[in-house]
Amino acid sequence: MTGGAAAAAASQAYGEAWYWDERYRKEAGPFDWYQKYAALAPLLRLYLAPHHRLLLAGCGNSVFGENMVDDGYQDVVNIDISSVVIEQMKKKYHDKPQLKYMKMDVKNMSDFESGSFDAVIDKGTLDSIMCGQNSQENATKMLEEVNRILKENGVYMLNSCVYNCNYARIIAERWEKSPSENKWELTKPLPLDDDNTSLVSLLGPKPDVHYIYVCVKGNGCASTDSKTGEAGN
Ligand SMILES: C[S@@+](CC[C@H](N)C(=O)[O-])C[C@H]1O[C@@H](n2cnc3c(N)ncnc32)[C@H](O)[C@@H]1O
Repeated sequence: MTGGAAAAAASQAYGEAWYWDERYRKEAGPFDWYQKYAALAPLLRLYLAPHHRLLLAGCGNSVFGENMVDDGYQDVVNIDISSVVIEQMKKKYHDKPQLKYMKMDVKNMSDFESGSFDAVIDKGTLDSIMCGQNSQENATKMLEEVNRILKENGVYMLNSCVYNCNYARIIAERWEKSPSENKWELTKPLPLDDDNTSLVSLLGPKPDVHYIYVCVKGNGCASTDSKTGEAGN
């Protein structure tokens, strides 16, 4: 198999537990996909309060949850389809009661009651499911479950490498690399249009960025104004 074919085959397995079990057995980690906590923290603070009940969906072996707790968040539940990584993380964080780890498939979170989370944070998990087999069906199941477990006005925050206005009712925010200071910067929310023209005219056709989609339950499409408010109770 060529390198390109092997990479394509691997990414098709991103939605499968066996693939991640194997990978986490080999790779000790920790590893954070896409943005790290420091980059996303200002955005999180716009929506989340320290006492909120939060879910990291498809946590992997990232230190995002640990960083959140160190920053004051008190109730961070982590799930992943890989039993291997969940066992590793339970062991690693046995002395941090603010962090809970459970093996669970985001497509079936029936162990969680409806309306029981203030926010779901997803870094790369919907993207993984979109790489796998039956992607549309599986992504729909996941998003239905995310919607079910969120409280009214709860937030689904997706960090993705994909610009896709069909993911949900969304607001995109752009982080821009400043050439002069060589650091990431939070920019104004960017309202979506249907055919991506606003984004393409701003960033060019193939921008080297990650996208952050913020979906507020029950609000339809959250307005730009709502993003400047304090995290509620
Ligand atoms: C691209 S990694 C991202 C890991 C972590 N969120 C991060 O930011 O580093 C995707 C993660 O999603 C998990 N995953 C894939 N499909 C899943 C599913 N159906 N339910 C729960 N977790 C899943 C994988 O095991 C993997 O840990």
